[in-house]
Amino acid sequence: MTDKIILPEHVGIIMDGNGRWAKKRGLPRNAGHKKGAEVFEKTSRHCRDLGIKYLTVYAFSTENWKRPKEEVDGVMNLMRSYLKSMKKAANEHIAVRFIGDKTPFDDDLKALMDEAENADVGEVITTVQIALNYGGRDEIVHAVKDIAKDIKEGKLSLDDITEDSISERLYSETPEADLIIRPSGEERLSNFLLWESAYSEFVFMDVLWPDFTNEDFDKAIEEYSRRNRRFGGI
Ligand code: FPP
Repeated sequence: MTDKIILPEHVGIIMDGNGRWAKKRGLPRNAGHKKGAEVFEKTSRHCRDLGIKYLTVYAFSTENWKRPKEEVDGVMNLMRSYLKSMKKAANEHIAVRFIGDKTPFDDDLKALMDEAENADVGEVITTVQIALNYGGRDEIVHAVKDIAKDIKEGKLSLDDITEDSISERLYSETPEADLIIRPSGEERLSNFLLWESAYSEFVFMDVLWPDFTNEDFDKAIEEYSRRNRRFGGI
């Protein structure tokens, strides 16, 4: 990397292009997700080695249930394998959190998610947030419902509704995203981190997620470092 690097505190990644990667090789789509999951693990460790505090990855959206059952089951099974292998690799200094609505998941998967969130990983360097059954709009609806409930119960008044009181009720417990990376050539947000991306820098890359390397990640950080973030000021 070049010398004038500004490390973002929170990076979001839309892990896109798994299906196209598999198709190009005449493989089933789930083969792309499998490779994608390996790249996710490698990228998490790279973030830890660089000292990035928060990494949020988009693994399964509230819209992804529309995909064929075989594909949905494939992604959930990859999640199971990852969470089981994580147990053996304790103390990697990577904490795992899930954002999204956990209610529809099978009990065994919920238990694995719970175990991962409570695992002892030693001193935490990087917190990886996995967005699973996540939608940015759903996250805001969830926060609004929570506020409405508190108002109904007399715990909050109308004047207590602020940007902070909404932020506090989001699934994501991180600061806002500084940088959002989307590989695969698509240039849209697809309902990812809507609230948290108000001032994010976006880096779109042509590589498909299963081909994404640590060097690609470094290139995105270099691009981010060149940007001049003004947060609405001059
Ligand atoms: C988008 O690519 C990718 C997904 C909907 C699934 C991403 C899931 C993983 C990388 C595995 C998750 C597992 C862990 C352990 C985090 P796409 O299928 O829409 O690709 P396409 O646009 O080329 O069809």
